[in-house]
Amino acid sequence: MKNKELVERWSASIQNNYGAPSIALVKGKGLVVHDADGKEYVDFLGGIATNILGHAHPAIVKAVTKQISTLGHVSNFYAHPNALNLAEKLKSFTGDARAKVFFAQSGAEANEAAFKLSRLTGRFRVVAAQGAFHGRTMGALSLTGQPSKRDPFLPLLKSVKHVPYADIAAMNRAVNRKTAMVIIEPIMGEAGVIVPPPDYLWQVREICNASGALMVLDCVQTGMGRTGEWFGYEYSGITPDVITLAKGLGGGLPLAAMIACGSSASLFKPGDHGSTFGGNPITTAAGLAAIDFIEKANLLAAVKEHEKILKDGLALIPGVKEVRGAGLLIGIELNSESAHKVQIALQEKGILVNAPTPTTIRIAPALIVTKKQLSTFISMFRMVLNDVH
Ligand SMILES: Cc1ncc(COP(=O)(O)O)c(C=O)c1O
Repeated sequence: MKNKELVERWSASIQNNYGAPSIALVKGKGLVVHDADGKEYVDFLGGIATNILGHAHPAIVKAVTKQISTLGHVSNFYAHPNALNLAEKLKSFTGDARAKVFFAQSGAEANEAAFKLSRLTGRFRVVAAQGAFHGRTMGALSLTGQPSKRDPFLPLLKSVKHVPYADIAAMNRAVNRKTAMVIIEPIMGEAGVIVPPPDYLWQVREICNASGALMVLDCVQTGMGRTGEWFGYEYSGITPDVITLAKGLGGGLPLAAMIACGSSASLFKPGDHGSTFGGNPITTAAGLAAIDFIEKANLLAAVKEHEKILKDGLALIPGVKEVRGAGLLIGIELNSESAHKVQIALQEKGILVNAPTPTTIRIAPALIVTKKQLSTFISMFRMVLNDVH
């Protein structure tokens, strides 16, 4: 079956909430994917920062295959080794021996869990950032600071106040002794890869310390090594109270986590929260395999090296105003509102990216991207900008 037929059938039977797709993808290996017409693409979007080891990675395939043929699902009434091993691994990355993990499937659910956890402090007010994206369930949407996503669903929870991102004075004015939590992305991904000043997270930590509010860092897009660190905030030297993860955590399988540190680790009591599939043996097998491979292949160091190659190469291209981001989460700001055209032109040339704003192209390739793929991407990008402009 070809692209045209699949896309038509898709539109007839699948809700149009994402807009109609232009192609259907049918197989992939590493960063390379094929559509139903047999055309090959290099995937520089990685399922939106999710396919941390690319497509059909042998380590993930082996771990998932072994687990599903041994024990597929057990419910949360029983312990099993994979969720335990993954939780211990994540705890070790936080450096906090008291940290405890709640597993879920999506970023929205991880943030919902953090939201509910914060209510158990006895406070209910929340401060989040304008432009931030924390998910689309009603609680997570209340945290999300994008009017286009919120407005059709108003009224949302009124206890959430949004302040301009990276504006520490506004944050200081908004947070007080009634604030249960402050939730921030270390880099705002969906808003167009917006990077705050280097001392911003540290300053937010100070404000949270003074008020007693939980500091929640949404690392859904910036976690799992994407920025060259396990969690996208580590460069700041702070320890948050809560970290949320999803996307890359399951190596392409649906897995999310809410990690509560310090005294917040013991806020949830039996019956307070739950998720049928949370921490399922198969998805946690994939998460463990992904982490193991990233460690053994020393990919965090490679990510930093690749960041430099991308930033140096892309910044020189006429039509590029700014290249920002960290590691392999890069926003390319264009001189004009041509991001959508550029995205389509790149797709025609066999490269997948996306345009989170009319002026920004975002790339988030798998951490296994090669130097050759990076240099091909940079030359293609130059060619496409030249054509489009
Ligand atoms: C920072 C951040 N938080 C939360 C989410 C929501 O994740 P999900 O779509 O898995 O619910 C996203 C998704 O893009 C995200 O980028």
